[in-house]
Amino acid sequence: MSQMEKSGKLWGGRFSGATDPLMEKFNASISFDKRMWRADLEGSKAYSKALHRVGILATCEMHSILEGLDKVSEEWMSGTFQIQAGDEDIHTANERRLKEIIGTVAGKLHTGRSRNDQNATDIRIWVRESLKELRKHVLEFLQVTVDRAEREIDVLMPGYTHMQRAQPIRWSHWILSHSWPLQRDLQKLDELSKRVNVLPLGCGALAGNPFAIDREFLARELHFDSVSHNSLDGTAGRDFVAEFLFWATLTTVHLSKFAEDLIIYSSNEFNFVSLADAYSTGSSLMPQKKNPDSLELVRGKCGRVFGRCSGFLMTLKGLPSTYNKDLQEDKEALFEAYDTVSDMLQISAGVLATLTINADNMKAALSTTMLATDVAYYLVRKGVPFRDAHGKSGEVVALAEKKNCKMQELTMQDLKSIHSQFDEDVAKLWDYETSVEQYSSLGGTAKSAVSKQIKELKASIGKE
Ligand code: ARG
Repeated sequence: MSQMEKSGKLWGGRFSGATDPLMEKFNASISFDKRMWRADLEGSKAYSKALHRVGILATCEMHSILEGLDKVSEEWMSGTFQIQAGDEDIHTANERRLKEIIGTVAGKLHTGRSRNDQNATDIRIWVRESLKELRKHVLEFLQVTVDRAEREIDVLMPGYTHMQRAQPIRWSHWILSHSWPLQRDLQKLDELSKRVNVLPLGCGALAGNPFAIDREFLARELHFDSVSHNSLDGTAGRDFVAEFLFWATLTTVHLSKFAEDLIIYSSNEFNFVSLADAYSTGSSLMPQKKNPDSLELVRGKCGRVFGRCSGFLMTLKGLPSTYNKDLQEDKEALFEAYDTVSDMLQISAGVLATLTINADNMKAALSTTMLATDVAYYLVRKGVPFRDAHGKSGEVVALAEKKNCKMQELTMQDLKSIHSQFDEDVAKLWDYETSVEQYSSLGGTAKSAVSKQIKELKASIGKE
């Protein structure tokens, strides 16, 4: 019996002692990298075809391997694949099973390949396919925002700075303020996808492939856009993982801000929105409570995604060339970030699609003091320099406060005592709709400008 057979490991040839059981567990990645089974089998199928093209595999051997790989695939699909002790990772598990099914010819599949280029290829395929899923979820979220913004364009609410009532805005304008960051995330995702889709297969362990494997053929087979230029970089480069983690982090930062606004708006103090029961939970103690747990988790889970991003960057820092086992840490970071951001996107879309708005409460939260800027603009339109107009408007606010009345209740005499340009037409100012409609420049909160945003957003998500 050879050493390899004794240890049962693909790399067991030079070892005589058994692996410490804890080391075995510490080293193994099968418990999580089994998620990449499909990518691993696809990569092996393409590689066996490439080996056939250079004469390493006879036609019948290639067919035997391809059929065997399909059988392994069926086992994964039907849930009958049995992971065995000694299956260190998905690569060894699939190859072990292939050998059981087709016999020793399976041993030719790994010719010139290493788990280093195999693994890097699997991850890139997995990330590429996962980005397609995430893309759909971002688009769904954007679609919900656009639909809602279009439907509820007439609803007005207070806009805040420093969490203080600032100026009246359209509710749709608030919704869309959360669409644009996600729209940029979509653009980033598309840019990132290009950098993910570069093929490392054929880089071997580190030095390249000694059997003149046609890497461009492999790229075509596996739908990669290009091949990596340097085998050392190809096997060990994980920029795309770091980029994905940053992408996920920034997307969750955007969603957490969206969540935080809605948590505030759903509180009794605001009562601008009510979450659907489907996205709320009750309190085990206080019967009256309806908690926005969905949004709190969207806000809170941002932390773990950021943690994965910073944690993996720390893993990368100062690693020597080329593959080092530290890099195995890439997968759990990726998987956790992916699962979390995927759920967060879908939950956020669900919350927004199903909540109900309390337009009357939004309107009731508007106060005429929020029109103080408009008083200044009134004077500006009569030729008063803005700096003076701003001061005069402040005097109007102060006088109303002193008289314990609203600005619109001040008499014409009161107003004239502050500035001679005040006239009867000032009465038109005390209307929130009029206030909002003056912001008609691009990007503003007037109906025409908000409609334009909706149109542009629709176009950018391919809906117009
Ligand atoms: N499970 C390993 C990983 O995820 C696969 C690559 C192993 N390569 C090696 N030279 N030990 O990184």
